[in-house]
Amino acid sequence: MTMMKTARIHEFGDASVIRYDAVPLPRPAFGEVLVRVAATSFNPTEAALRAGMLQTFLPVDLPYTLGWDVAGTVAEIGAGVQGFAVGDRVVGRLDGGGAAQYVRAPVASLVAVPETVPLAHAAALPVAGLTAWQAVFEHGKVSAGQRVLVNGAGGGVGGLVTQLAKHAGAEVIATAAPRSAETVRRQGADQVIDYTAGPLNASLEGPVDLLLNLVPLSPPDAAALVPLVRPGGRIVSIATPVEPPAGAGVTAMHMVARNDVSHLEALVGLVEAGTVAIDISESRPLTDLTDVHRLSESGRTRGKIIIVP
Ligand SMILES: NC(=O)c1ccc[n+]([C@@H]2O[C@H](COP(=O)([O-])OP(=O)(O)OC[C@H]3O[C@@H](n4cnc5c(N)ncnc54)[C@H](OP(=O)(O)O)[C@@H]3O)[C@@H](O)[C@H]2O)c1
Repeated sequence: MTMMKTARIHEFGDASVIRYDAVPLPRPAFGEVLVRVAATSFNPTEAALRAGMLQTFLPVDLPYTLGWDVAGTVAEIGAGVQGFAVGDRVVGRLDGGGAAQYVRAPVASLVAVPETVPLAHAAALPVAGLTAWQAVFEHGKVSAGQRVLVNGAGGGVGGLVTQLAKHAGAEVIATAAPRSAETVRRQGADQVIDYTAGPLNASLEGPVDLLLNLVPLSPPDAAALVPLVRPGGRIVSIATPVEPPAGAGVTAMHMVARNDVSHLEALVGLVEAGTVAIDISESRPLTDLTDVHRLSESGRTRGKIIIVP
């Protein structure tokens, strides 16, 4: 029996619960293909899953193979699948399994990756890209001329939000620490505010129309975001919900990204066109995943980290 390497959890807990198990190669079921994984990417929400914090609204069975993002090549075609061939380059958002050498993937979740887009870059797109796309276009409704504050531009989602908001014609003000400032400027931010240097309102020249919050915050820090937005403006948070007090005249919502292949397809197209660039801070082998979880949980990661099995 052919075996493959995986990164799995058999219990919830700290990063030490991640195990590098050899398991039998899966076979694709009806409507699926087997993907030979070129790369997955780390998303901090998976660290929350690993810790058992998502079990109430996103329950998973154990053992659970990590890896929501996957990019690779089709290795085997399941029954009922048309339009895919062995060797096709694909990317998709799966419900786990990408942190392995091979993964079964429903073809309905997969998008073609052009030859000009490296698979390692494509692997950074599903979770972060879908979240960024939906925050900017669906919930933020960013349009030309809007003043948009991106809080947390240095992260995996933030780099894509900044570029998509610029692409939509907005004036983008981004918060980033010195380690990320240059990258965020290159991604198109018109102004970068160093969030480590003091309160954001001290550096913001006038309120914004829209604030996209991409950072987990304490309640006082979340409340401090509200006065940065003009009356009639809007806050969209993908992390800590922000609740404006009555009378602030600011609307706020918390969003959870959904898997929509049309959005992923559009993102791949923007990367192919050179409109969006992927900010890869590191590429690590699968067996470094434990370390990557620890680094993320202690705030030491930035950009996207690619995991290669
Ligand atoms: N709701 C959803 O559907 C959804 C989807 C995806 C992710 N998320 C959540 O959204 C958050 C961001 O995800 P991600 O993948 O972008 O995470 P990430 O890549 O781990 O974000 C790390 C970045 O956060 C920045 N940061 C940390 N504290 C900050 C602060 N106080 N102010 C401004 N920036 C700060 C840092 O920027 P510097 O480098 O500038 O220090 C760092 O680069 C995570 O909490 C994740 O769990 C939610």
